[in-house]
Amino acid sequence: MNDVIIPRIGLGTWQNTNPEQCATSVKAALELGYRHIDTAQMYKNEEYVGNGIKQSDVPREDIFLATKVWIDRLDYEGIKQSTEKSLKRLQTDYIDLLYVHWPAGKYDTKETMKGFNQLADEGKIRHIGVSNFTPELLEEALEASEEPLIANQVETHPLNQQTELHKFLLEHDMTLVAYSPLARGKVLEIPELTEIAEKYSASETQVALAWLWSHKDVAAIPKATSKTHIKENLEAVSLKLDSEDIEKINSLDRNKRLVDPAFSPDWD
Ligand SMILES: NC(=O)c1ccc[n+]([C@@H]2O[C@H](COP(=O)([O-])OP(=O)(O)OC[C@H]3O[C@@H](n4cnc5c(N)ncnc54)[C@H](OP(=O)(O)O)[C@@H]3O)[C@@H](O)[C@H]2O)c1
Repeated sequence: MNDVIIPRIGLGTWQNTNPEQCATSVKAALELGYRHIDTAQMYKNEEYVGNGIKQSDVPREDIFLATKVWIDRLDYEGIKQSTEKSLKRLQTDYIDLLYVHWPAGKYDTKETMKGFNQLADEGKIRHIGVSNFTPELLEEALEASEEPLIANQVETHPLNQQTELHKFLLEHDMTLVAYSPLARGKVLEIPELTEIAEKYSASETQVALAWLWSHKDVAAIPKATSKTHIKENLEAVSLKLDSEDIEKINSLDRNKRLVDPAFSPDWD
C-alpha cells in the first residue's frame, strides 16, 4: 500500500471557468469539508481555484491540491516552466499531486518522468500522478520514474467501470481517481440507480459515488458548481450500499466513455 492519503472526495472544476463562480464553488466546498481540489492547466481556472482557496478559512496545509500538465508541454522544459506558472496562478509554493494529463502530444515516457521527478526533488510537487493511462503505458512510466506514481485519474462511473485497470492499480499500490464519476450527469437517467436511490432516500448521484467508494483505493472528484450539489455529493461519503445493490450496479457496465478525444491512447 502506498501510505499517501488522497481524500476520497475531491471537487472537480473542469468547465467551471467563470472567475467568481469558480472561486465561490472552491470556497464553499472547502468550508463544507472537502479537502481535495482537482484542476488542470487546460481548465484555465487555476487562478480562480487559488482565489477560492485563499478566500476560504481552510489552511493550505490541510488541502490536497491537484493539477495537471497539458500535453503540449510534457517535454522537460515545458514541464518546468508550466508548473512554475501553475504555482503562481494557484498562489501556492507546492502542489500535492501533479498529473500527466494525457499520454499524448509531447509525452515521452523517459523525458516526462525525468521532468516530474525533478519537480518532486525540488519540493515543488509532493506526489506524481498520471491520467488516462492504460496498464501498458503505466508499466513503462513506473519503470522510468524513481518516485512512486500514486494515482491514475481515469473516467470511472457505473457505465464505464474500469474493472481490469482497477485491479492493475491495486497490484501497484496506486489509487484510482475517478473522473466524470457522475457520468457527466447521465447517472440521473439510469433507472436502476433511481430505484436504488429510493431505497436509501438518497439521490442517484449519491448512489453512484457510494458505489465508487465501495471499491478499495478509489477517490472521486465530482464537479459541482452550486452549493446544493457540492453539499449533496459530500454527504454521499456516509452512504453505505448493501452488497446486493453494489452487485446490481456492477452489472450496468457498458464500457461507455464520455471523454475520448482523438489523442486518447489505444484503450484496449
Ligand atoms: N483527467 C481528465 O482527463 C479529466 C477528464 C474529465 C474530467 N476530469 C475531472 O473530473 C471532474 C468531474 O468530471 P466531469 O466534470 O466531467 O463530470 P461529473 O462530475 O461526472 O458531472 C458533472 C455534472 O454533474 C452535475 N452535478 C454535480 N453534482 C450533482 C448533483 N448532486 N445532482 C445533480 N447534478 C449534479 C454538475 O452540475 P453543476 O456544475 O451545475 O453542479 C455537472 O453538470 C472534472 O471537473 C475534472 O476535474 C478529468
